[in-house]
Amino acid sequence: MEAQIRPLEAVDWPAARRIYQEGLDSGEASFETVAPDWSAFDGSRLPSHRFVAMFDGRIAGWVAVSAVSARPVYAGVVEHSVYVDAAARGRGVGAALLRALITSTERSGIWTIQSAIFPTNVASLRLHEAAGFRVVGTRERLGRRDGEWRDVVLLERRSQVI
Ligand SMILES: CC(C)(COP(=O)(O)OP(=O)(O)OC[C@H]1O[C@@H](n2cnc3c(N)ncnc32)[C@H](O)[C@@H]1OP(=O)(O)O)[C@@H](O)C(=O)NCCC(=O)NCCS
Repeated sequence: MEAQIRPLEAVDWPAARRIYQEGLDSGEASFETVAPDWSAFDGSRLPSHRFVAMFDGRIAGWVAVSAVSARPVYAGVVEHSVYVDAAARGRGVGAALLRALITSTERSGIWTIQSAIFPTNVASLRLHEAAGFRVVGTRERLGRRDGEWRDVVLLERRSQVI
């Protein structure tokens, strides 16, 4: 069975937010600890590049991007988040979400997608490398999670067509 990808709407947020919170609770996904409410999410993510994956009739994951800078020179650079329900991992849902994101961003002229990933988040590092992201480098002791300084690996995918 293949995941079906469609735009993420406000009505999807309770299910997507649960998946987000589950990922945050692992301590391996982000410096964030609490998934935002819809208005905070909606206000910080670009409207045209948000998707959910439907798998087995349910929302199994989501992807969305934020602008990295308001400067015009960075208008084609975004940072994304991707989260898959723990019960649906390892079945191609994350890969399908990234494919949809790459198609959608390239269609609107976005040339770089970046992501910041903890070095211990092997699943996410492999997922992104398989989707054409490359490791730019490791940012050392960038921030604290639960009081502990964490390194962050910066990855990017530079479009070949823009
Ligand atoms: C990272 C995450 C999104 C991957 O989603 P997924 O749907 O399980 O990934 P897929 O099944 O599409 O896997 C695609 C590829 O990623 C890699 N991958 C996925 N899970 C992996 C794992 N546990 N170990 C190693 N590689 C893994 C593999 O290369 C895989 O390709 P393959 O199946 O052909 O070997 C998911 O584990 C997740 O939501 N984690 C918690 C939240 C999180 O960390 N988000 C990223 C924040 S930066």
